[in-house]
Amino acid sequence: MLTVEQLSKTFPNGKGIFNVSFSVKKGEVFGFLGPNGAGKSTTIRHIMGFMKPDKGSVTVSGLNTWTQQGIVQKYLGYLPGEIAFIEGMTGKSFLDFMAEMQGMKQFARQDELIDRFQFDVKTPIRKMSKGMKQKVGIVAAFMHQPEVIILDEPTSGLDPLMQKVFINLVLEEKARGTTFLMSSHSFPEIERTCDRAAIIKDGVILTVKDIHELQSMQRKLFEVTFERAADAEVFIRTSGLVIEFIDGNRVRVPVQGEYAQFLAETSKYAIRNLDVFTQSLEDVFMNYYDRKGALQ
Ligand SMILES: Nc1ncnc2c1ncn2[C@@H]1O[C@H](COP(=O)(O)OP(=O)(O)OP(=O)(O)O)[C@@H](O)[C@H]1O
Ligand SMILES: [Mg+2]
Repeated sequence: MLTVEQLSKTFPNGKGIFNVSFSVKKGEVFGFLGPNGAGKSTTIRHIMGFMKPDKGSVTVSGLNTWTQQGIVQKYLGYLPGEIAFIEGMTGKSFLDFMAEMQGMKQFARQDELIDRFQFDVKTPIRKMSKGMKQKVGIVAAFMHQPEVIILDEPTSGLDPLMQKVFINLVLEEKARGTTFLMSSHSFPEIERTCDRAAIIKDGVILTVKDIHELQSMQRKLFEVTFERAADAEVFIRTSGLVIEFIDGNRVRVPVQGEYAQFLAETSKYAIRNLDVFTQSLEDVFMNYYDRKGALQ
């Protein structure tokens, strides 16, 4: 549905994006993660056909987004990272302006979205808070029910309740077969919505991973409190497990996948308490940033 091929752009200062390639299938939600300045927005601007690549191409449904921009725009919904609104407009006049540009005929969906995100459309945009402006941008990206929706940090500025409303909207559209690409710094949001995610750093894609695969990389840290300190000592000597921390009868054991061995070894003793901590998806990603960074 969306194919990015060997996309490269070098800015005069040497920064940019380099040989970025990935593709997003119809109905898939694809996440785009990376630290500040990694090249997420630059890639997205190329996908939208707003920038001419030095090399490579982007196609949506087989149409080149740079050379056939006029046709492709009809299939796309877009929420920019920083929205430039036109002076003097209210939320409603901006949305109606965008609707006209899209040749939109049905306004029921627009009304419904305004209602869901709960904001006063009569307020001049200039007087809106950051979160309110973001809501206007989200409605503009979704209201014409495009086949592909490109979102650059969609929940920045939204409160937790509205982030939930947004996530539900994405899942609902996904169920209808809409294709998504979204950049984000929010790991829970990516985990809730995405099938796959790419990690970009210094303009280069480090990896593209299935979300389930990333979740299986999450380490669990078990904190076992033995009834007797003597048992803890035997456990440490004989279990063959990696032990991270020892304090009398309390022992911490990191486990990734090999649960059977952990259970077999602990079941030999009387256990007073068992706590478990799950490594966050964010930590898994951070490992990626660091590891690849160190390799360069
Ligand atoms: N028009 C431009 N001219 C010159 N340099 C640019 C331009 N646009 C982006 N850059 C540079 O390219 C790099 C990538 O920027 P980009 O905005 O794509 O990052 P990002 O991943 O979206 O970051 P953030 O998470 O902060 O939004 C940065 O070093 C930025 O300074
Ligand atoms: Mg950006």
